[in-house]
Amino acid sequence: MSRNQPLLDIHNITKLYSVGGWLSRNKIAAVADVSLSMLAEEPEILTLAGESGSGKTTLARMVLRLVEPTLGRILYKGRDITSIRTRKEQIEFMQDIQPIFQNPFEAFNPLKKLESYLFETAKNYDSRENGSIEDRIESALNLVGLSMREIRGRYPHELSGGQLQRVSVARALIASPSLLVADEPVSMIDASLRMSIVNLFKDLKDRHNVSIIYITHDLATAYYISDRIAIMQRGHIVEIGPVKKVLAEPFHPYTRLLRESILEPNSETAWDEEITLSTIETKEFARQGCKFANRCDSRLPICEETEPPLSFVDGREVKCWLYGVQGKHDTAS
Ligand SMILES: Nc1ncnc2c1ncn2[C@@H]1O[C@H](COP(=O)(O)OP(=O)(O)OP(=O)(O)O)[C@@H](O)[C@H]1O
Ligand SMILES: [Mg+2]
Repeated sequence: MSRNQPLLDIHNITKLYSVGGWLSRNKIAAVADVSLSMLAEEPEILTLAGESGSGKTTLARMVLRLVEPTLGRILYKGRDITSIRTRKEQIEFMQDIQPIFQNPFEAFNPLKKLESYLFETAKNYDSRENGSIEDRIESALNLVGLSMREIRGRYPHELSGGQLQRVSVARALIASPSLLVADEPVSMIDASLRMSIVNLFKDLKDRHNVSIIYITHDLATAYYISDRIAIMQRGHIVEIGPVKKVLAEPFHPYTRLLRESILEPNSETAWDEEITLSTIETKEFARQGCKFANRCDSRLPICEETEPPLSFVDGREVKCWLYGVQGKHDTAS
């Protein structure tokens, strides 16, 4: 891989799903024409945020090759990931991009001792580091603040959610990946332990050059650990840029709404309310124009008709007619 080649380079990916049963012809774009890049020489934590159903998990699963894009291309270290064919290529890919899931208890078989997972993982992946299998496991555990002494002989249910999530991160690190894809990794973990996992991600990026895609509903931890944030709404990235810019001074009306919802004293309720709005969800997916227009206080007539482009404004990109190219459109029409 050449020095300036992106680590991950996503070109206009779309994932269409049929909704409303087998015979339905209705399709929604769970991810709609998304492009983004992560640089190889500058490890970063990129947060994907957005309300339930905005397409975060679908995007992450396409990056992990668990879901195939309907349209578009994903290059990883310059290689189109749909062209991966042989078992060797597959293992190399899976070694380099590791998932961290939401519920660590589902990631482990309750009847199997934790150390056997770690040994199996270490045996599966070629060592890029020197040292015996035991040494590699111990150093992965040390990176997450654990040691084999604490794990040996123990089953998943004997650990707290926070500790078990650390073990799943350690397991991912045994492979020496360049990219971790963590889908809501702390949402099921006790609030008191969340920061320790989040700090662990920051440390892995800062000290061990691991890039991370961090999916969360929690904008406070996103603000604290990420370098960039991409805000998703109905499949689109509607604002993306440095987290300090985007969350401190959100431009897109949807980003503003999201930020306000975490400032409410009971943020859990706010999210639950969004999750149950399935009719609104379906209508929004089907809208032409901006998918947020019906909920937007600042909407213009054009917002209901024509999808806004992503415009570069003040160090971030915003998909909103209030910024950038609206004047151009007016002149053209
Ligand atoms: N396998 C599938 N078949 C049909 N529709 C799907 C499938 N997977 C996801 N979807 C739909 O795609 C949209 C995006 O879903 P996705 O899970 O990516 O959202 P999300 O942002 O991760 O949400 P959450 O915050 O709740 O995890 C939703 O409307 C969802 O119902
Ligand atoms: Mg999800």
